[in-house]
Order: sequence, then structure tokens, then C-alpha cells
Amino acid sequence: MNDREDNLKRRIRELLKERNAILLAHNYQRAEVQDIADVTGDSLGLSQTAAETDAEVIVFCGVHFMAESAAILSPQKKVILPRMDAGCPMADMITADQLRAEKAKYPGVPVVTYVNSSAEVKAESDICCTSANAVSVARSLDAPRIYMTPDRNLAQWVARHTDQEVLYWDGYCPTHEWLTVEAVVKCKAANPTAPLIAHPECRPGVLDLADEILSTSGMVRYCKGSDAPAIIVGTEMGLYHKLQTDSPDKTFISPSNRLICPNMKLTSLDDVAEALETMSNVVTVEESIRVKAYATLEKMIRAGRD
Ligand code: 13P
Ligand code: SF4
Repeated sequence: MNDREDNLKRRIRELLKERNAILLAHNYQRAEVQDIADVTGDSLGLSQTAAETDAEVIVFCGVHFMAESAAILSPQKKVILPRMDAGCPMADMITADQLRAEKAKYPGVPVVTYVNSSAEVKAESDICCTSANAVSVARSLDAPRIYMTPDRNLAQWVARHTDQEVLYWDGYCPTHEWLTVEAVVKCKAANPTAPLIAHPECRPGVLDLADEILSTSGMVRYCKGSDAPAIIVGTEMGLYHKLQTDSPDKTFISPSNRLICPNMKLTSLDDVAEALETMSNVVTVEESIRVKAYATLEKMIRAGRD
């Protein structure tokens, strides 16, 4: 670490203390941002931390929907997103109007919304889910048919693990979509003894080839506990920092070098320091939307506890 980065990190820690703030970072963030965070994790873990923390300020190093979820769960806290332009293209693939039109086509069918969505879309839903709990959330609903949005790949994966009929919106994650079956087949042929773990946002054909399908934190736990000296990891490459830190002797292989989410890489230490200095980039959700979206997130968190 150079002197400048060292000083910046020290300044961020001081500011976090002064502001009674907690720094949360998603597992795809830049290595130096993950290193300075109080908590790193997947969408589920970070939303639980955001709901439970005593800190007055939450600095969310991730993308917009994640900070918005924190603001929905903790309205009395200030939630800061260091880069307001860090969005999620999949979340932007459906609007509340589009979801209302879908609901009109399927009256009475409960809507399960992936947290990678706007507050307005959550507010139009019955329950939220993350990649870690999508199957158990679907099963928790006493319904023969469910509607999932926005991720078609997550929806098709859930459909294989429940007896329910799963209708879905045709959204996807552009980063995970880069991963093709051909690339995975080639990678497995070159590394025949390495298990493949994949994120449920990957294409169905890729998931068919996986030994385990896991959220990012599920991958962290799997890799830490595995005896395999080399593991093929089908997800955004920011996760490799945590995997390699936990297991310096293991080799983590990416089946494609295009698995980089540009939005997750926007936030720098300078952005974090500046947001804390100025207390700017506060994410808020209009109260009538927040109350409805809260119910869907709270129901999801409760479904996980039951
Ligand atoms: P996780 O909840 O598994 O961390 O995934 C979040 C995400 O945005 C994946 O693209
Ligand atoms: Fe959205 Fe995909 Fe980036 Fe996750 S990796 S934030 S789903 S674009």
C-alpha cells in the first residue's frame, strides 16, 4: 500500500468514527474498498446488517438498489451511496408501470421480486428475494403459480427447485450473461478436476454444468470449506479478492475475463472519503413507496428466520 492510500484509509476510518457511520461493501467492490469496510457480504447479508445496525449513517459501497434497500429498511438513518451513478442495468430493465401491466395479466399470482430492483418495483410486489434465498422464498408462498422479476435466469433456476409454475420477466444481468456455455466447457476441459460454482444470474446452460449454484457469500463459504486446490468461479471477478484472501493457497479460475460489472467498480476510496466529508449522495425513498417496499423486504427477512 502506498502512502497516499494509507492516509486515505486512515482518514476514512476517522470520518466513520466522527459520523457514527458504518461502511458496508458488496463482495464485488474494488479490493481496497472491501479491505476498509466494516462488513462485506452478499445482498442478503448486507440488507440484514443495514436493518440491524446501531450506526446513524450507513455508507453503502455497492450499487443504487442496495443503498435504496438500506434506506427502506432504516428510514431513521442517513444512507450514503458514494457514487450516485452506480446503478444496476438489470434493475433498470423493469419499471413499476411495466410490472403493474404484468400483474393485470395474472391476477392473484404473487410477485416475487429480486432485490436487484427499484423501490417502486418492490412496492408493487408481494415479497422480495435474493440469490441466497430465492428458492426458500418461493417455497414459503402457498401458491401454485408465482411471478418473478426482473431476472429470467434466477426465475428459471427457482422453477427447477419448486413444484410451482414460475412466470417471469425477461430481464438479465449483462455481466453474468457474458458467460457462455462454450467458455465454461472449454474451461472445464482445461481444468478437469476443478469444481465449478456459479451464480444463479448465469444462463441456464451454464448452471446445468455447475457443481454448486450459490450467492456470492455462499461462494465464499464453499471455497473456504472446500478441499479442492483449484475452483472455477462463475461470477463477477471482484469476488476473487475475498476468495484469495481467505485461501491464499488455492487457485480460483475465471471461465471468462469479461466478468466485470462496471457499476460495481465505480466506487474508489476517494469517493468514499469525499462522501463522508461532505455527507452528500444521500439516498432517500418517498415514504408512500418506502412503506410498501419495506413490507416486501421485511417479509423476505422474516421468511429466512422462520
Ligand atoms: P449476491 O446477492 O449473490 O451478492 O448478488 C448480487 C448481485 O448483484 C449479483 O450480480
Ligand atoms: Fe447488476 Fe449484474 Fe452488476 Fe449485479 S453484477 S449489480 S446484477 S449488473
